[in-house]
Amino acid sequence: MTTFLATDTDGINRAAQHIQAGECVAVPTETVYGLAGDAFNEAAVRKIFSIKGRPLIDPLIVHFDNLSKIGRLAKLNEAQTNALQLVADAFWPGPLTVVVPKQATVPDLVTANRDSVAIRCPKHPAMRRLIATSARFLAAPSANPFGYISPTTAQHVADSLGERCPYILDGGPCEAGLESTIIDLRDPLQPRLLRPGPIGIEQLSQVLNRPILPAHSAADNKDVSLAPGQLERHYSPQKPLTLYKTGNLPTQADLNSATVYLARPKQTQTSKFTYWLSEKGDPREVAQNLFGLLRALDEERSVEAIHCELPNAGGLADAIRDRLIRASKR
Ligand code: TXA
Ligand code: MG
Repeated sequence: MTTFLATDTDGINRAAQHIQAGECVAVPTETVYGLAGDAFNEAAVRKIFSIKGRPLIDPLIVHFDNLSKIGRLAKLNEAQTNALQLVADAFWPGPLTVVVPKQATVPDLVTANRDSVAIRCPKHPAMRRLIATSARFLAAPSANPFGYISPTTAQHVADSLGERCPYILDGGPCEAGLESTIIDLRDPLQPRLLRPGPIGIEQLSQVLNRPILPAHSAADNKDVSLAPGQLERHYSPQKPLTLYKTGNLPTQADLNSATVYLARPKQTQTSKFTYWLSEKGDPREVAQNLFGLLRALDEERSVEAIHCELPNAGGLADAIRDRLIRASKR
């Protein structure tokens, strides 16, 4: 049975006790729900991989609450420290993950034997209270079965992980709806984007005062070792998903297809299965609603295929495009 925990003091305390006992707890964050366990407890970390069905070669992000504890996680030279300080001042707590050289004591299981570790200070108040109350560093991937769409509500976690996930801390729907931006700061002179997300490449470039090397695109990145987890196919619904340039959606889609617009269409040919992600096409609202709608359509019995508009590149749309393109790969 899965137990839902509220984010009041009692719920946080119980979640913290489960973490300290080496159990996994699904947790709300400002991006998507995570499946958390004590990063320094190998048995707990093993459970995370097994609940998700995730291969052990795909490393996890470690969540913590305060840069003063960085020494437990990372081993940084002066240039790396300065670069991390800049992005932390600008974006933490928040939806940014940073890859840095790891401290030897971080379990190799967490980092899939890499000499780097991905770290993030999340913003969601319930997640922060859980980190503080449990007094642990929390390893947490998104709380979905490996390769499926990330969860943005507690119910999504229960729907797709079921009884495999014993506890879910219910902190309401996620604010961003897309996973954090990941930047590699191992070489601070040549920072590289590993995953586009809520923090844009332009913002990072401004704060670090240098160009950011772009992420390997969804199309060209077949080598998993370049950016582990950034698999070509990921975040995928079971039903076929076809993408169209803005404005190019087929108006007369066949009866068993769902048609997803970014904004509410002007002349609404309201077939039963017409949807839009945001009334005005606001990218933040599109991001918030995207994964939830894809999940709902995947479950809707009378829908056999999904046609969806792809936003034009730029800003948050880069992250939306990245997830949609990966989701559409067969
Ligand atoms: O928003 C998020 O980042 C959510 C919430 C729960 O924090 N977490 C998340 O975790 O999306 P996950 O495991 O689904 O995606 C993390 C990505 C994976 O693609 C993984 O391969 C990559 O980060 N990653 C982790 N450690 C890495 C490292 N040392 N070097 C390069 N990539 C790494
Ligand atoms: Mg994930």
